[in-house]
Amino acid sequence: MDIETVMLSEYGNASSNIISNHRRRKLVDIATRLSRRIGRKVPVFFDKAYENLIHDPAVEPPQSALLDDELGLVYEIGTLSKILAPALRIGYMIGPGGPLLAAMVQKTSDAGFSAPLITQEIASYLLDRHVAGQIDKVNAGYREKAAATRRWLDAELGDVLSGYTGGSAGFYFYLTLADIETHERSAFFRFLSRTTGQPDIDGPSGDKQPRVLYIPGEFCVDPQGELVEAGRRQLRLSYGFEELPRIKQAVEWMREAAAYARQFPAV
Ligand SMILES: Cc1ncc(COP(=O)(O)O)c(C=O)c1O
Repeated sequence: MDIETVMLSEYGNASSNIISNHRRRKLVDIATRLSRRIGRKVPVFFDKAYENLIHDPAVEPPQSALLDDELGLVYEIGTLSKILAPALRIGYMIGPGGPLLAAMVQKTSDAGFSAPLITQEIASYLLDRHVAGQIDKVNAGYREKAAATRRWLDAELGDVLSGYTGGSAGFYFYLTLADIETHERSAFFRFLSRTTGQPDIDGPSGDKQPRVLYIPGEFCVDPQGELVEAGRRQLRLSYGFEELPRIKQAVEWMREAAAYARQFPAV
């Protein structure tokens, strides 16, 4: 038996899929049965980084796996990165007391690996007084951006995409293109990064045309896994930072990049 721990993200970065409460319970159930069978606790770690950023009202509210944890196997790992600011470098773990939690506390103290006390104090003040309003505001913004981006993806890239996930939590869509590659050597990537070598597409050196930056799918899949082939045609797109008109423009450039890639497929 080589399963010692289970680590999973409640919201996949990059797939942007959200684990259902049913599957969450199932996983705890599997770990519980396995622990009983081998006579040893098999911990399950849930990554909750995006849990507060589920902004799609159609998604069922997430239920903590701690509620189904008979044996004390579940640990939840959270972060203030997504709801306050990444630079705070504050994360936390919730779980049953015992050797693992004690070791984590000891290790964190030994290594001095934590945010400065003043930063923790500021974060605590913000959490106590402002975080609920902040989360509502952020989610309302993401909800609107996700809906608009989805419309543009469907309208502009409908015949280019074989599917996409995301837009329900956080700020990503994960796209799968039907027949066009997206990795760094691809025509599609070179068009959008303005590195085709053609001045009419790239713009003059020193004054390049605007670029569309995305994370190629090949970096989002396990290089030894079964998604390698699909990953070559996938990409993660963020709607977190740019404003709506800019995102619309970016999707239009992606349509142009797809036309270019079909015209000059060989790389
Ligand atoms: C799924 C997921 N979990 C956890 C994190 C961790 O965030 P941080 O290290 O900033 O706390 C991230 C950050 O991008 C993430 O995408």
